[in-house]
Amino acid sequence: MHAVVLVGGFGTRLRPLTNDIPKPMLPVLHRPMIVRLVDRLAAAGVTDVVLALGFKPEPFAAAFPGGVRNGVTVHYAVEPEPLDTAGAIAFAARSVGVDETFVVANGDVVCDVDVADLVARHRLSGMDATIHLTPVDDPSAFGVVECDSDGVVQRFVEKPAPGETASNLINAGTYVFEPAVLDLIEPGRRVSVERDTFPKLVAAQRLAAVATEHYWLDTGRPDQYLDANLDLIRGVRGLPDEPAIAPSATIHTSADVTDSVVGDRCTVGAGAVVADSLLLPGAVIAAGANVRRSIVAGAVGSDADVVDSVIGSGFVVAAGSSVSGERLPTPT
Ligand code: GDD
Ligand code: MG
Repeated sequence: MHAVVLVGGFGTRLRPLTNDIPKPMLPVLHRPMIVRLVDRLAAAGVTDVVLALGFKPEPFAAAFPGGVRNGVTVHYAVEPEPLDTAGAIAFAARSVGVDETFVVANGDVVCDVDVADLVARHRLSGMDATIHLTPVDDPSAFGVVECDSDGVVQRFVEKPAPGETASNLINAGTYVFEPAVLDLIEPGRRVSVERDTFPKLVAAQRLAAVATEHYWLDTGRPDQYLDANLDLIRGVRGLPDEPAIAPSATIHTSADVTDSVVGDRCTVGAGAVVADSLLLPGAVIAAGANVRRSIVAGAVGSDADVVDSVIGSGFVVAAGSSVSGERLPTPT
């Protein structure tokens, strides 16, 4: 079975972290998000993943040496220009000649849904497409879905205005498609799956939905990306699948690291405090520094305070200074 993974976005809201690394390549614990997704798809019986990219595939090659991961062959489909979600799905699927039931996943979502179960339920329904739904408190930033009692979608409203729909079930970003869906997507131009293809399927009563309560998180903002990491070590998603502190990290015996993820080759100096934070590979926290609720890819000087902030790679927070609620270097 094939899966198309949409990874065309630039991760603008995660700058400066995404200045030099594409968002799907940012790690959750010690594996890039995209690698975690491919591992989950592999467990669901996917044999081939096509990464639908709007930009160069080179940064991904390191994550998939030899183009294979856990028995899954990884293909790259690079659009000549951004084709929007449906355009990208169709471009990617056609590039490898998909001709059977396939999976689609938004690459910016972290989720524990059982994809094999989703596929099984899709096959039972006999529908052209099945989308996974999750409940959220505020659906306004998502695609909101209304279903009948048989799970057939009656309405799909992308980014609804206040009061436009009473449903709190949103499109969680994992789909199962029949190849027939591709016939609805005109090649070579921008087409949105949310605003064009899903409404067409709804009109034909050919779109099913499956709502589950599995862990689900959109990782678009720094606080969400931090949660995607910390939830794994807080036990919110069951047992962590990797250690919180990478074995290659060097942490001084007098440093106090709590509820934090420390990446490969990080160093934390004497007397430093790191709490509720994520240190990306190679981050340096000097002696006496205090880092809370922050993501650090660069360096924090001795006795500096960094709170609720994002420090990009290459940036150095000056010794003794205080940073709160900032992103450094400031995204342009
Ligand atoms: N290759 C490619 N080309 N990928 C694209 C393009 C494109 O032109 N445009 C968007 N994508 C990718 C993004 O990188 C992301 O992985 C996915 O398609 C969805 O696009 P977003 O821009 O992240 O959309 P969103 O987060 O506002 O909303 C989507 O996700 C929500 C769940 O997080 C929609 O699918 C909503 O309906 C859904 O609720
Ligand atoms: Mg998104």
